[in-house]
Amino acid sequence: MQNEPRLAEIEAAAARLAGRIHRTPVMRSAGLDALTGAELTFKCESLQRTGSFKIRGAMNAVLSLSGAEAAPGVLTHSSGNFAAALALAARERGVAAHIVMPDSAPAVKQAAVRAYGGRVTFCAPTLTAREETAARIQAETGARFVHPYDDYAIIAGQGTAALELWREAPDLQAIVIPVGGGGLSAGCALATAALAPRAEILGAEPAGADDAYRSLLAGERLPQLDPRTCADGLRTALGERNFPILSRLLAGIVTVSEDEIVAAMRLVWERLKILVEPSGAVPLAAVLAAPARFRGRRVGLILSGGNVDLDALPWQAAAR
Ligand SMILES: Cc1ncc(COP(=O)(O)O)c(C=O)c1O
Repeated sequence: MQNEPRLAEIEAAAARLAGRIHRTPVMRSAGLDALTGAELTFKCESLQRTGSFKIRGAMNAVLSLSGAEAAPGVLTHSSGNFAAALALAARERGVAAHIVMPDSAPAVKQAAVRAYGGRVTFCAPTLTAREETAARIQAETGARFVHPYDDYAIIAGQGTAALELWREAPDLQAIVIPVGGGGLSAGCALATAALAPRAEILGAEPAGADDAYRSLLAGERLPQLDPRTCADGLRTALGERNFPILSRLLAGIVTVSEDEIVAAMRLVWERLKILVEPSGAVPLAAVLAAPARFRGRRVGLILSGGNVDLDALPWQAAAR
């Protein structure tokens, strides 16, 4: 896909995905409404296949390839959730998935990639190391590189999460989306702008990995230097295709501290009984961190994923 997806492309992605992924539930919590003074609706992508929304974009991208394009297999670099999603999408298409993972990726995410049949190569946890390793594997195998977020087919696929949310909860006044590289937020922002043009679209980001927040303020894409956050899905740098979409459509990005992320994650477990990972709890952390912004409003939140190492929960002191 060469151009920014329009609603038609996001709807085409939804049609491609139909029957292959879950239609995830939306949930409410009277307790969390009382705590925040807002009416919160959670889109539970932690209950999605592979445990995160990433399968939406991965499946859309793999299914959009021609037979000849797909035949040598696909390749990506990812800290985990996209890797697992691409491995599953490739397996269902009957082609190989080569995955470059930083050696710092959580063990639970490494195990998931292998379980879906992904062929894993480890590298140092820097963008340069990821890109160099991926280029080498591409040269060796001829596999097609699929970027985890800086890709219009991925953005269109991720936008289907918001498409479903708006169909189920059309009266929301705002939507809060976690921002890593910006695939989920760009796709959901495009879907929201088309379906609910008056709704406020907000990003949520860890203060320790706030390149998107700084980029939007500066009006240019700034690098992500030395990200430090337990929200491992949000450590990536904002993508080139993603930046202009977020600049145009987001009303702002709320940044949150590590303590706020962990407290929000714990609240989701406690109140919603949903196993959400730190990245997925960042939108609720944002609502709790900026209460005046949300009080009295109907707010949708994307609980983006639930892949967390149960032996290293972030509220256990030893894990941080
Ligand atoms: C659970 C979770 N939430 C959010 C994100 C951020 O998505 P994006 O990189 O598309 O902004 C990721 C990315 O890995 C993730 O795994």
